[in-house]
Amino acid sequence: TQNGLSLICVCLSVLGLDSDESYEGTSEASFKDAVVYDGTQRNNGSLPQENGIRKHRTTLPAPMFSRNNFSVWGILKKCIGLELSKITMPIVFNEPLSFLQRITEYMEHTYLINKACLLSDSIERMQAVAAFAVSAVASQWDRTGKPFNPLLGETYELTREDHGYRLISEQVSHHPPISAFHAESLVGDFVFHGSIYPKLKFWGKSVEAEPKGTITLELLKHGEVYTWTNPFCCVHNVILGKLWIEQYGTVEILNHSTGDKCVLNFKPCGMFGKELHRVEGYIQDKSKKKHCVIYGKWTECMWSVDSQTYEANKKAEKKGDSKKQKSQEEPEGADNDDADDMPEVQETVAMIPGSTLLWRISSRPQHSAKMYNFTNFAMSLNELEPGMQDHLAPTDCRLRPDIRAMENGDMDEASREKERLEEKQRSARKDRSKDEEEWSTRWFQSGTNPYTSSQDWLYTGGYFDRNYSDLPVIY
Ligand SMILES: *[C@@H]1O[C@H](CO)[C@@H](O)[C@H](O)[C@H]1NC(C)=O
Ligand SMILES: *[C@@H]1O[C@H](CO)[C@@H](O)[C@H](O)[C@H]1NC(C)=O
Ligand SMILES: *[C@@H]1O[C@H](CO)[C@@H](O)[C@H](O)[C@H]1NC(C)=O
Ligand SMILES: *[C@@H]1O[C@H](CO)[C@@H](O)[C@H](O)[C@H]1NC(C)=O
Ligand SMILES: *[C@@H]1O[C@H](CO)[C@@H](O)[C@H](O)[C@H]1NC(C)=O
Repeated sequence: TQNGLSLICVCLSVLGLDSDESYEGTSEASFKDAVVYDGTQRNNGSLPQENGIRKHRTTLPAPMFSRNNFSVWGILKKCIGLELSKITMPIVFNEPLSFLQRITEYMEHTYLINKACLLSDSIERMQAVAAFAVSAVASQWDRTGKPFNPLLGETYELTREDHGYRLISEQVSHHPPISAFHAESLVGDFVFHGSIYPKLKFWGKSVEAEPKGTITLELLKHGEVYTWTNPFCCVHNVILGKLWIEQYGTVEILNHSTGDKCVLNFKPCGMFGKELHRVEGYIQDKSKKKHCVIYGKWTECMWSVDSQTYEANKKAEKKGDSKKQKSQEEPEGADNDDADDMPEVQETVAMIPGSTLLWRISSRPQHSAKMYNFTNFAMSLNELEPGMQDHLAPTDCRLRPDIRAMENGDMDEASREKERLEEKQRSARKDRSKDEEEWSTRWFQSGTNPYTSSQDWLYTGGYFDRNYSDLPVIY
């Protein structure tokens, strides 16, 4: 149970909702019990090149620290009576990324957007977009570390020439926390943008996040716009038991030019776990004619198959199932009083003959477990390459000293810096309210999403001109 409460905050964090401001310094345990890590070498900051494309680092400079010696009870005691949003956790429950970097992980499978741009068949394009929407939440799997809450005005940029895009994001509001991002293809093929402001509910054993905010993908050469909202995310066993993450709810990807849509159902795992992590849906046109079925798991892969084949297969399967049930006893009602354990049955996706593979998750590096369960892509996000400092905005996450210290394994320094930054943010806010000054965002403006008419934050452009003259000093 040692992680226990950790995840209230993970969640709060994933959701960016904890105040992150009442942190009281390094807690009970010391940080000496580092996991001994022998796999990879330290990254000394050299800049490997291959064929002119820069290679990104595939490991962090230091392994994570064990959480074993942190007493959840010790933390809980201090929190009794506090509002959920006031609880903050020792930094040992964090992961060394800002929430702005965490949402950048949507871009890990950008090749699917690039593929969509190249396809001439509109149904195949929708399939690729649907696979992208699912792949964008796949990096959440097993990531129970809490990303750092972005400071107001914090930014993150990422240019990946190898994948053909660049991205800029900004923390545009602190209460409630809102992160806005805008990515664009380097050759003018697509624009991908959104603003994320998760809403949290605490259900006693779990924390559920409703991912408010619309995500918009524009395929410019096809003149198509797709919008959707991410599924709900739930972290189970925040108090007791083993933490695990479930995503559920209906994601509707709308083609605004025609009214065609793809409906994806992220299934709740259910009593016996048969549906664990399953995603199932279909593409239909305006006249509600189904064109194909899409199925798989967000932790594994997605397939597409025509509707008739799918229905036929399902019927055959049902027959088989009812035979099996006669010969097999139902499991006794599991004793689930203390924790909602993740079902152990973890079947892989059964491929229906005739299906086309849309996406498969890449395996995580071997040292991932010692590095916050990061994917290869996540490993590279906070890399500060030599020379980068000369052109990065001074508000960029990579320059945040607390995250940098944590990444380097210096937990005491990370805690001190985190506290200092939060204090600095608080006092800046006080000064502004004294002077009756309003905070103004720098690269994004509040507005209406032209396709959904919902409230959104839109990029005003110009970030890559690199005129940083009026940026606040937040670090
Ligand atoms: C952590 O706990 C274990 C077992 O209680 C103990 O042996 C170890 O010395 C502790 N490590 C630190 C750094 O306190
Ligand atoms: C960093 O490592 C690379 C490859 O291991 C090596 O060639 C380079 O000299 C090192 N740089 C420094 C500054 O130590
Ligand atoms: C989306 O809209 C475009 C533009 O009208 C249309 O050509 C295309 O067939 C639609 N795509 C899908 C997948 O329905
Ligand atoms: C990494 O994943 C394993 C299970 O695969 C889990 O037990 C562990 O808590 C995870 N670690 C973090 C930091 O989320
Ligand atoms: C940079 O931006 C500031 C204010 O935003 C403006 O006054 C200044 O002229 C700009 N500098 C250049 C070189 O564009």
